[in-house]
Amino acid sequence: MSDFPVMTNDRILRICRGEEVDRTPIWIMRQAGRYLSEFREYRKKHEFFEICRNPEYACEVTMQPLRRFDLDASIIFSDIMVIPQAMEMECVMISGKGPTFTSPLDTPEDLDKINLSPDVNKVLQYVFDAITLTRKTIGGKQPLFGFVGAPWTLMAYMVEGGGSKTYSKAKKWLYQYPEASEKLLDALTTVCIDFLVGQARAGAQVLQVFESHADALSPELFHKFTLKLLKRIATEVKAKLGKDSPPVSIFCKGGHFMNNEFVKSEYDIIQVDWTISREQILELKSKVVQGNLDPCQLYAPKEEIEKATREMLKKFEGVRHIANLGHGIYPDTDPDHLRTYIDTVHKETQKAQA
Ligand code: CP3
Repeated sequence: MSDFPVMTNDRILRICRGEEVDRTPIWIMRQAGRYLSEFREYRKKHEFFEICRNPEYACEVTMQPLRRFDLDASIIFSDIMVIPQAMEMECVMISGKGPTFTSPLDTPEDLDKINLSPDVNKVLQYVFDAITLTRKTIGGKQPLFGFVGAPWTLMAYMVEGGGSKTYSKAKKWLYQYPEASEKLLDALTTVCIDFLVGQARAGAQVLQVFESHADALSPELFHKFTLKLLKRIATEVKAKLGKDSPPVSIFCKGGHFMNNEFVKSEYDIIQVDWTISREQILELKSKVVQGNLDPCQLYAPKEEIEKATREMLKKFEGVRHIANLGHGIYPDTDPDHLRTYIDTVHKETQKAQA
């Protein structure tokens, strides 16, 4: 790892170590994507997963938002669905619909048709290559995030076959086939751990776990099926990487009662959505807290974005804060409005030079 460029912006890494920073750092979930015209142009030439699988393409698309905005982190261009694909489930990106599985898991017998223990270092090597190339290309100007989809979120897609309003098919598995569900979730957890470890070894400097469908779970289901697995991910990744382990971040979208569980865990960063109050943020204070402007706020006029940004920053006062949105940016966002958000965070939090 020693041949990576020297870091010239390490604000996020410093915050995670508990060190002082000159201003609040910011990056944006889904910062590479369709709201950027250069991304839409690129997508005309290349299919979505073709970009993920080709390290040069993935690197180029990761770089696009960094050229436009004064961001404090990058995130490798990929998708959470690369894990189900590694388990030999076919998943295609359908425009207007999102990721779609050609043969979703219907009954427990279907688990025999997929590969529950793929050789991650072989089948997902392309992600590791993309990370190494991108870390070198960024040249130390921003740290690079790696990521995975959390086991429940992946299972939800694998059973539903795509997005869903209720996730009732996937939840049906939890109630009707608890043993098969545990078997699948456990296998996914092992893959998540190996994949995060590989991403760190390839050069990822922060790791984020996306539990995007946490909001479908009751506290009972969360405690029964997923909390221990999410904790295991952080614990085992850190045990395997030892003192070189990057900080690890957890995002339970819509999961307020879940956030507090991670105060007592190996996670370093808790990403929160926009529905959380100042009081709830303060309960997470022993960790770095990341978030949380509503992505829809960026539809407002610029002056209102500035005002909402100042209000958001106030909510995080006294907390080690990495600014972000409360969920990924939407494709119809005006990039200039995002710039207003980024620049306001920097301007409002810049400390006077000593
Ligand atoms: O810049 C980045 O954030 C890095 C790339 C990234 C993508 N997906 C690219 C992408 C990351 C970190 C993800 C994570 C991801 N993917 C999540 C977790 C985060 C979250 O939003 O909750 C989830 C649930 C997915 C699954 C997924 N991929 C969905 C539901 C969709 C369709 C929704 C949509 O925006 O169309 C995707 C597609 C996707 N992933 C796109 C991008 C840029 C757009 C698709 C396209 O270009 O055709």
